Amino acid sequence: HGYFTYDPGFMSTAACNSAITYIDGEQGLLYYRGYPIEDLAESCDFLEVSHLLLHGELPDHKQREEFISTISEHTMLHDQMSNVFRGFRRDAHPMAVMIAVVGAMAAFYPDNNNVADPESRKVAAMRLLAKVPTIAAWSYKYNIGQPFMYPKNKLGYAENFMHMMFATPCEEYVPNPILARAFERILILHADHEQNASTSTVRLVGSSGANPFACIAAGIASLWGPSHGGANEATLKMLEEMGDVSRIGEFIKRAKDKSDSFKLMGFGHRVYRNMDPRASIMRKTCHEVLNELGLHDDPMFKLAMELEKIALEDDYFVTRKLYPNVDFYSGIVMRAMGIPNSMFTAIFALARTAGWISQWCEMNADPEQKIGRPRQMYVGSARREFMPLHKR
Ligand code: CMC
Repeated sequence: HGYFTYDPGFMSTAACNSAITYIDGEQGLLYYRGYPIEDLAESCDFLEVSHLLLHGELPDHKQREEFISTISEHTMLHDQMSNVFRGFRRDAHPMAVMIAVVGAMAAFYPDNNNVADPESRKVAAMRLLAKVPTIAAWSYKYNIGQPFMYPKNKLGYAENFMHMMFATPCEEYVPNPILARAFERILILHADHEQNASTSTVRLVGSSGANPFACIAAGIASLWGPSHGGANEATLKMLEEMGDVSRIGEFIKRAKDKSDSFKLMGFGHRVYRNMDPRASIMRKTCHEVLNELGLHDDPMFKLAMELEKIALEDDYFVTRKLYPNVDFYSGIVMRAMGIPNSMFTAIFALARTAGWISQWCEMNADPEQKIGRPRQMYVGSARREFMPLHKR
């Protein structure tokens, strides 16, 4: 088959150099720019981590203030953008709306089309980081028929998002610091994960010189699938369908049956063949949040904990090294916070925007980067004699 290596799913192909995220799947290690994820999740806020991903260093006091202040300048959406939302049916999935609105940013900010200019790339990154939470929250408000809430720049990134999701013109949202911290942690844990499907999509689209908003819209589209970012929503749907501990066995049996395409949602990972370090942090956070909210007896949570226990003892899962992944727990945490299932993947997208745009900037600054152009193994017919229509 000529010069090409057949590698479906890119299991063993490195398509770029990157200095952003390091993963050791065997040992269960995840570092952003050399810092262990455990330290960042414990002690940083999401914007510090975004600064780290984008610029390579954690900000000092002054840089942090400047970063926050630039983000604050960009949190509002152009008023005409609300029309993009209004073109959708009320029950539109937030991910469908996000793909459209983020793509539409290219029309509102054509000054960022010059992808060869580092300054323009930086402005695009800040615009995206600042506006994607507003876009995500508005897609929810549109679903439930409440007025769009404008950002409140005096709030932190996580609290501001909660405010835009849960406040109304009649009632303020009173942030709970434990929930805000847990939410911030969800964002940090999802901020980057090297060359996963959506990040590779952003790079592939960007490799043709496409504008940053088109690239991120493509990343959101790739994230939507249940094998990737859609897993958190799919996990909760699965638990709801299961309904009761007595049905766990039936679902596990289906997951093991090779003639059934069903997979146990929230289990397994392409790279981690050991516990996902993000899952360990999220598991702890999950217990903290449920304690804070007095939800430890919640039937859905009990069901999740029982499923975790049974799967971790089952030979099928043990031998294949299938552990609960980060999205098994993040879905439970977000549900406890009152966030509906339909928003889980949108929140993943808002967190991953930090990684996507950092990777996009890195790619555009890399002189070795070429247009992405995989080859194929042709398995179709050999040359054939053409038949005119009247003879077929
Ligand atoms: N339930 C049952 N069996 C599974 C599962 C699962 N969740 N995941 C993997 N397997 C089996 C798979 O059938 C295969 O078995 P066998 O060796 O007998 O053929 C073996 O485990 C190895 O799996 P694989 O299909 O080679 O793994 P992959 O790297 O292609 O897929 C995955 C990884 C995450 C897509 C897959 O594990 C999966 O679909 N999990 C459920 C969806 C999910 O939770 N996805 C979120 C990933 S974390 C968030 C993110 O980063 O996007």
